[in-house]
Amino acid sequence: MSQLKGFNSMFRLDGKVALVTGGSRGLGLHAATAFLLAGAKLVIISARKNAGEEGIDQAVEKLNKLGVSGKAIGIAANVADTDDIQRLVGEVKKHSDTLDILVCNAGATWGGPFEPTPDSSSKKVLDLNVRGVFNLARLFTPLLEKSGTPQDPSRIIIVSSTAGITVPHVGDHGTIMYSVSKAAAHHMSRQLAVELGPRNITTNTVAPGFFPSKLARGLIDILGGEQELSDANPRKRLGEPEDIAGVMVYLASRAASYVNGEDISVDGGVRFAQGRQSKL
Ligand SMILES: NC(=O)c1ccc[n+]([C@@H]2O[C@H](COP(=O)([O-])OP(=O)(O)OC[C@H]3O[C@@H](n4cnc5c(N)ncnc54)[C@H](OP(=O)(O)O)[C@@H]3O)[C@@H](O)[C@H]2O)c1
Repeated sequence: MSQLKGFNSMFRLDGKVALVTGGSRGLGLHAATAFLLAGAKLVIISARKNAGEEGIDQAVEKLNKLGVSGKAIGIAANVADTDDIQRLVGEVKKHSDTLDILVCNAGATWGGPFEPTPDSSSKKVLDLNVRGVFNLARLFTPLLEKSGTPQDPSRIIIVSSTAGITVPHVGDHGTIMYSVSKAAAHHMSRQLAVELGPRNITTNTVAPGFFPSKLARGLIDILGGEQELSDANPRKRLGEPEDIAGVMVYLASRAASYVNGEDISVDGGVRFAQGRQSKL
């Protein structure tokens, strides 16, 4: 038998403070929910809109009804805008002078035919998915560095996409700049792993396949709908909230302390099936 120190708390997040961008709905809200259920003391969610069915306020209300001791708060910010990220840092500091977990999840997509691509669409996608993620990591590093230790470093988790690994959509509904932005996110996590690892901050990437959400809805419909995409997936379904929850809690927990610069795809393995010759 080997001595595994603190195994019972290895997958727990007790006492941790997390910030999840794009936490008002979709994958970000799944991650925020999981962090609170795993014991986090404070989960801060951020998005642009406070009000409405998909705004921050309704999400905070739901999170604070989970029946756990941890609390959720919301802070509106546009994380494609560097000044607003700087303001977000200041707002977070009013609640906590350290940060254990930063999830750079807010993302934008754009699809359309190649030649007429408006330049504004590339700017929108790159500003949020690449420049925004870089500036979040850069500007939150002082807070992350304060809480990281050699045995339990602080975590940056970047939400990318399997579109950053494969070439999933070309032609009328091509998503070239989205794919490129997500490939950049993968490499950013490798760069940050080496840059920030010595400062007790690890960085990893989660690359989801299709999860029903506002962002994915249009593309799922264009590709034939949830049933058709499920049939084509080796696991015979699309992603579910628990699939994101599991990988997020793992990467944020002490269990992943020595994992740095990796990307974990959460797609049921479908990216490997794309070149197959026959239907499964
Ligand atoms: N769902 C999928 O199938 C899938 C697959 C692969 C990768 N992903 C990635 O997963 C991440 C989350 O996507 P999702 O599917 O959960 O999307 P979603 O349901 O549309 O949620 C997007 C979230 O980001 C926020 N947001 C958007 N632009 C923002 C900005 N400029 N500043 C701050 N917050 C912003 C939105 O709130 P506001 O609109 O109020 O700002 C919302 O909270 C994205 O990075 C996406 O690329 C998703």
